[in-house]
Amino acid sequence: MTGEKPGDRGARPDDASGSAGRVEIDTPAVADGPELYRITRDSGVLDVNSPYAYLLWCRDFASTSLVARSHDGVVGFVTGYVRPDAVDTLVVWQIGVDAALRGHGVAGRLLERLFGTASRDGIRYLETTITADNSASINLFAALARDHGAPLEVSELFPSELFPDSHVGEDLYRIGPLAPEGATVPDALVGSAP
Ligand SMILES: CC(C)(COP(=O)(O)OP(=O)(O)OC[C@H]1O[C@@H](n2cnc3c(N)ncnc32)[C@H](O)[C@@H]1OP(=O)(O)O)[C@@H](O)C(=O)NCCC(=O)NCCS
Repeated sequence: MTGEKPGDRGARPDDASGSAGRVEIDTPAVADGPELYRITRDSGVLDVNSPYAYLLWCRDFASTSLVARSHDGVVGFVTGYVRPDAVDTLVVWQIGVDAALRGHGVAGRLLERLFGTASRDGIRYLETTITADNSASINLFAALARDHGAPLEVSELFPSELFPDSHVGEDLYRIGPLAPEGATVPDALVGSAP
């Protein structure tokens, strides 16, 4: 997950209503694959995978991925998978919101819904990788940890030397253990995460 573009942050009303109207969170369908590709490409900061990869993801990992839909179509998405060797851990692969809708809580809703569903299947940890220059993404995941009163650990995962191009290193952000959806978060923990 590489850095944000300057000036991406917009006004932040209480809900996800904005220029695109009401936004609903939904399970991706294969037909959404091109929209995931478009949002990724247009972000200018996410690693752009092949159109084929997004189609395949929408078919095979739809249960751990979500899209945000407005009357204009898909305006945001999150893709994830359960780690095969750590089945209590969901990896968030990519998350993106159309520039016009940023700052309205869409990404936060996508992550909350994703975790809410995954927690019913025994997921207690969320992982993602973020580059040090991506403050939007860092704040997004820090807010999730904070809101759940969950620990957030940061460590190096893929240093820049592992990339054949000019990609900077990716740090691992691991959040958890997270209480299952509906469980009470102790007051003392609320707001204690970075
Ligand atoms: C990162 C991104 C998905 C955030 O989407 P969003 O819908 O604007 O985020 P939200 O409005 O739900 O904000 C969620 C939290 O992140 C914080 N945040 C989001 N964008 C931020 C920014 N540009 N700067 C600082 N904080 C930001 C918000 O303040 C909020 O925290 P809070 O609850 O403490 O207020 C969006 O900016 C984006 O698509 N960026 C380009 C792609 C990208 O960098 N993806 C992440 C790496 S894969």
